[in-house]
Amino acid sequence: MTEPKNTRLSPAKDIATNPPTRNSGHDIKFEIQNLKTKHNAIIFAHNYQPDDIQEIADFVGDSLELSQYAARTTHEVIVFCGVHFMAETAFILSPHKTVLLPDPHAGCLMADMINAQTLRSKKKELPGIPVVCYVNSSAEVKAESDICCTSANAIKVVESLTEREIIFVPDKYLGQWVASQTGKKLHLWPGFCPTHARILPKHILNLKNTYPDAVVIAHPECRPEVHEISDAVLSTGGMIRYAKDPKVHQMIVVTEAGIIHRLQQENPGKEFIPVFPEAICPNMKRTTLEKVLWCLQDMKPAVTVPEEIRLRAKSAVERMLQVV
Ligand code: 13P
Ligand code: SF4
Repeated sequence: MTEPKNTRLSPAKDIATNPPTRNSGHDIKFEIQNLKTKHNAIIFAHNYQPDDIQEIADFVGDSLELSQYAARTTHEVIVFCGVHFMAETAFILSPHKTVLLPDPHAGCLMADMINAQTLRSKKKELPGIPVVCYVNSSAEVKAESDICCTSANAIKVVESLTEREIIFVPDKYLGQWVASQTGKKLHLWPGFCPTHARILPKHILNLKNTYPDAVVIAHPECRPEVHEISDAVLSTGGMIRYAKDPKVHQMIVVTEAGIIHRLQQENPGKEFIPVFPEAICPNMKRTTLEKVLWCLQDMKPAVTVPEEIRLRAKSAVERMLQVV
């Protein structure tokens, strides 16, 4: 098994070689670094995490990249700076590791829009139709599903199924996007991400007046009318890769504003315009340096999943990882 390679500068290394001299945020980072070494821990952060959290992380990525890292890492402890379903997915794949979520209340509002019982009723209404479940969902919902997907691979996952009709949960906007790209009939769940649903075409059109040459890149969780006026619809990891294209100089970034930090760090000289500053996921912003420190001191809160549910959820997640 190989560890994923982080191509970014390693702030953790800077801290180890430049110990702090006064009581500051730098002290906290130094302490985190020591505890990481002591517990053989690794820090993962989602692309929407606060800037200082991204800077202490060993790997920053989208949901797919982070689940791939979680499946491969040899570290005993994973500190998951993201939201609950992401930490849960890491545990589903690596049950012998301790998976810490620095703030136990960092949930996902979309994931809370479906549960196992309501999904079971839908499956009874539509017998024999396979269920594709967006990873933004609980382990119980994954356990009721045939295969998972993320925003990076949803089209490939749906295309990998021979059936023409699919139950797609819980994100109706991602589902509409996938249906439009695959031509398949998707039975959609009425779930959505409140952060992305707030973004309207008028926000983009206003910015286009000021930045007429900027490319518009939207997340698939946005509304279809937003997809229609965008140049590309991509996962957060897809946005990071797209921005590296030498032809891209200015980008209107139609997703949660936390991604701007990484775009800017990795592409100095290019301009990244957030679609609007209120495009913030409050749960992603619950992580702080202090909470990362405390969870490493106390080895909690740890995320776990009952074994019977984990095994069924694992088969849906692993089936997805075989497609990509
Ligand atoms: P990505 O997998 O594209 O990073 O998206 C995760 C997410 O929760 C977006 O709201
Ligand atoms: Fe969930 Fe939306 Fe936050 Fe992503 S941005 S974690 S979908 S609430």
